[in-house]
Amino acid sequence: MAERGSVMHSWCVQSDWNAPTVVGGAGAWFWDDQGRRYLDMSSQAECCNLGHQHPGVIAAIRDQAEKLCYIANAWGAKPRADLAERLLERAGFEGGRVFFTLGGADANEHAVKFARWATGRPLGKIITRYRSYHGASSGAFTLSADARGQHQPPGMLNVIHALPPYCYRCPFGQNYPSCGMRCADHVGDLIDWEGRDTVSAVLMEPHAGTNGIVAPEAYWPRLREMCSDRGVLLIADEVMSGFGRVGEWFAWQKYGDAGRPDLMTLAKGLTGAHLPLGAVLVSRKVCEHLDDRMLDAGLTYSGHPLSCAAGVAAVDAYATDGLIERAGELGAALRARLEALRVRHTCIGDVRGDGLFQVLELVADRVSRQPLVPWDASGDSPVKHLVSDARQRGVCFAGRGNLLILAPPLVISRDDLDRAVDLLDELLSACDAGMASA
Ligand SMILES: Cc1ncc(COP(=O)(O)O)c(C=O)c1O
Repeated sequence: MAERGSVMHSWCVQSDWNAPTVVGGAGAWFWDDQGRRYLDMSSQAECCNLGHQHPGVIAAIRDQAEKLCYIANAWGAKPRADLAERLLERAGFEGGRVFFTLGGADANEHAVKFARWATGRPLGKIITRYRSYHGASSGAFTLSADARGQHQPPGMLNVIHALPPYCYRCPFGQNYPSCGMRCADHVGDLIDWEGRDTVSAVLMEPHAGTNGIVAPEAYWPRLREMCSDRGVLLIADEVMSGFGRVGEWFAWQKYGDAGRPDLMTLAKGLTGAHLPLGAVLVSRKVCEHLDDRMLDAGLTYSGHPLSCAAGVAAVDAYATDGLIERAGELGAALRARLEALRVRHTCIGDVRGDGLFQVLELVADRVSRQPLVPWDASGDSPVKHLVSDARQRGVCFAGRGNLLILAPPLVISRDDLDRAVDLLDELLSACDAGMASA
């Protein structure tokens, strides 16, 4: 824990940080300098989709490092071109272009920039939603409406937040499907009320992100339709949901062309987190408005050859290892086990998700759906205890507020998945007992 006194750590009170030093990993496992092994049920911020230390990606990084580590954007670089080509093909964005960034937050900020330029709407309003997370740089934090950003001053103008498609706690007091998707129509209403010719884009995650909101099936295609009818661009933030998480290359592909966005942002699984990289995929339609103007955007490390080489190898590994389909199949098995836990554990309020991206929402009272802690609570909580107990027992879960997010590497074995759910079963009993004694 040498870094405890010297490194500023993310999302915590510095004096509370106290974590083992990890020195190695393979597949769904990693281990610390004391020789303790951990089964990864979080993919470390939902990004190690390929598992730890994928040999093909490591070989590609090594190979590229020996040839050329860096060349600026004024020059071409083969891995950059190869990766752009593969991404456009996988997304079906033929005739489009890719702008490379360093991660997800700057991908989202650039997507907004491109959408504003392409639509040419002076106010360039952007509609996102409450309970979303799009990154921690000041612009991306403004796009987000996450408990962690409540006290941040706005870093971007003209961002409007819609109410979320949160069926378990519907902000419109409705029930799905008799609601008629009021939550989606609400986004259309916002565009109309703000003025169609003032709104450039709607930017949302097509699947759960860290806030664990999973919209009903018809929501995303309805957004697509409403944006098209109003001449507003649709931006899919696929930073977390992309690269197989939900059993598709990109989550919007569940809806085929009816869900196709105009721009899409990527990071995390793009290299399987072997090196940092983000990207904005810009469709041909949007490129037509951008190709003949000066692109006032640039990052020193945009399209860094080493990261792009990792990206090429990662995209190839998802395909050749059959990981996208595998996530769908293993995800169904995981979901079945979670549904069985829901029957046994009264602290489970809701189970939702797709593929290897499942969310458990825990409650203090199943009938009233009273949350265990307020949604923006940052202190002690039963979920934090559960995550910490699991870590002691060698399993790494991701938890925030009342949510447990199960997002293991797509390479996890069925036995390991079962082992993690068995431990979860045991630990949830402690939450049930806590409820009973409250
Ligand atoms: C949906 C989504 N968008 C954007 C980001 C920001 O990505 P980064 O941390 O690489 O800037 C995240 C990070 O968790 C995310 O989940």
